[in-house]
Amino acid sequence: MMNEHPLDQLIRALPKAELHLHIEGSLEPEMMFALAERNEIELPYASVEEVRAAYNFTDLQSFLDLYYAGAGVLITEQDFYDLTWAYLKRAQADHIVHTEIFFDPQTHTARGVEFTTVLSGILRALRQAEDQFGITSKLIMCFLRHLSEEDGFATLELAMPYLDRIDGVGLDSGERGNPPEKFARLFARCAELGLPAVAHAGEEGPAEYIWQALDLLNSRRIDHGVRCTEDPALVARLAAERIPLTVCPLSNLKLCVVDDLAKHNLRELLAAGLVAMVNSDDPAYFGGYLNQNLLACREKLALTAAEIIQLVRNSIEASWLPDDTKAFWQAEITRIAARHAQGE
Ligand code: HPA
Ligand code: ZN
Repeated sequence: MMNEHPLDQLIRALPKAELHLHIEGSLEPEMMFALAERNEIELPYASVEEVRAAYNFTDLQSFLDLYYAGAGVLITEQDFYDLTWAYLKRAQADHIVHTEIFFDPQTHTARGVEFTTVLSGILRALRQAEDQFGITSKLIMCFLRHLSEEDGFATLELAMPYLDRIDGVGLDSGERGNPPEKFARLFARCAELGLPAVAHAGEEGPAEYIWQALDLLNSRRIDHGVRCTEDPALVARLAAERIPLTVCPLSNLKLCVVDDLAKHNLRELLAAGLVAMVNSDDPAYFGGYLNQNLLACREKLALTAAEIIQLVRNSIEASWLPDDTKAFWQAEITRIAARHAQGE
């Protein structure tokens, strides 16, 4: 590329972990059409362009309506494999070395797709990526917070035979009016089963939902969490306990959490000493995979080399990789940062 900004070369060269990626949100319109045809499903769009044109969101719910509708083309094990494999190829291109992906079983089981079909397709692609690309991964099962806690318990029951293949649980979908406290008993049961928890909080919902995610769900990371800066005592706690925030800048822009990327509080989060990093959330819907998120932030927020390196270090620290693997990747980051500083 001609006249590429030197920091953009650094962004591409650094090894990264992605910790906030909904696999259903990586369904590109082209694949949506291909799977609709393969499964003889009628889409309410005439073309790929028409689908993309519909991605004009005003808030989280306006996105979720299309996201759940889009997921309706996913039927077979091969569909879930193809979806996941396409994401992993993009991940490799962005030099993602480790990814922790979310899946939403309730979106599929409610349509009559078996839990095992969803899980098998995703896992087959994850195993292949480790063999072929050396990309390691974790799988996090999300509960949909607009549904009842009882529905969540029923989903956990379906997952019971497969718990050795599920690395943790999460909480996603419409945040407003669905506080973490609604799921306190479900997450307590998951903890008893040895499943670590994360939760979306403080995306559209208030800082209070972040406190609840920590205190009532024992959430190890906060997904999004950008509204924490409304509460200085909360920021102090997140910093002191090194609770990571999986921030998704282009998602925040597309869902009108911020009206201008230049006003995003990512730098403020880093300056407060928080373990924040950049992720793509639902890249097919929000206009960019991980590197595109970092490149957009570099440009609009004027990130420095030190901030870019810190974000990438935080992604490794906040991951669920073993300590020796984290140390290996931190050393790689040190090596690549030093090479960059020497202008190579
Ligand atoms: N927030 C809540 N639920 C979601 C999201 C999100 O950003 N993406 C997919 N499901
Ligand atoms: Zn998300």
